[in-house]
Amino acid sequence: MKISGNTILITGGATGIGFALAEAFVHAGNEVIVCGRREDKLTEAKHKLPGISIRICDVSKEAERKSLYQWATTSFPSINVLVNNAGIQRRIDFKQGIADLLSGEAEIETNLTALIHFSAYFIPHLAKRKDAAIINVSSGLGFIPIAIMPVYCATKAAVHSFCLSLRHQLKATSIRVFEIIPPAVDTELDKGARAARGQTDRGIPPSEVAQATLNAIETEQYEVAVGRAEGLRLAAKTDPQQAFDRMNPR
Ligand SMILES: NC(=O)c1ccc[n+]([C@@H]2O[C@H](COP(=O)([O-])OP(=O)(O)OC[C@H]3O[C@@H](n4cnc5c(N)ncnc54)[C@H](OP(=O)(O)O)[C@@H]3O)[C@@H](O)[C@H]2O)c1
Repeated sequence: MKISGNTILITGGATGIGFALAEAFVHAGNEVIVCGRREDKLTEAKHKLPGISIRICDVSKEAERKSLYQWATTSFPSINVLVNNAGIQRRIDFKQGIADLLSGEAEIETNLTALIHFSAYFIPHLAKRKDAAIINVSSGLGFIPIAIMPVYCATKAAVHSFCLSLRHQLKATSIRVFEIIPPAVDTELDKGARAARGQTDRGIPPSEVAQATLNAIETEQYEVAVGRAEGLRLAAKTDPQQAFDRMNPR
């Protein structure tokens, strides 16, 4: 698929991997629309990339998902690529019962429900385009989980499963389904947790994930693990228990 001349909607595109994707897509000659919850981050992104369009949207809320879909397809009927990137990551201690689970942001709605609903909303629109794509950002942790963030890892495992089924269902359409599987990336994502567990390796720059994504689109590689995430993707097939024990030392 061509990496220029597309109209691309990126959820969570004002910071981190989403912004790196916006930057790479703009520089490659695409029209880019990004959404997120924080107006200041969207304005900052627009300041750095004046050509993009921005929209406030909380993807964890169904009414806002529907409104984004209606606005985006009306204002940009040429949209042919949807990037489901918005995500959050939480540490949840199930020994606390329901309290810890309910005390923070809606992780399943943000990481999984939104991605599934946006796919369903946009597929009829995308199927009318000659070339179209849905690009879902999962994680190496969807293949081998870190137990302190159990819901996050489960949502990413579900994203992987969903990509397999969606790719199969859409085989006869113009829509390609890509899964991008990042390793640890140096972004805002759960910075506190990384510091708390003494993780000094901040991960690769988001621009490397963006570059790998553009390569994946151009070369039609539908499941792409970036950097160290490839080790986790392969370990899930060969020796998941050993990999799990390595990731979760006692
Ligand atoms: N960083 C890593 O190590 C890593 C590794 C593997 C996979 N990933 C995945 O990569 C994706 C991007 O994460 P990132 O690392 O780039 O972190 P990030 O910088 O925190 O970016 C996440 C983006 O999602 C947006 N977002 C979060 N909740 C949202 C909501 N309810 N509605 C709309 N937008 C929302 C955030 O903007 P607002 O807060 O303004 O809404 C932010 O722009 C996520 O799916 C993440 O799981 C990251």
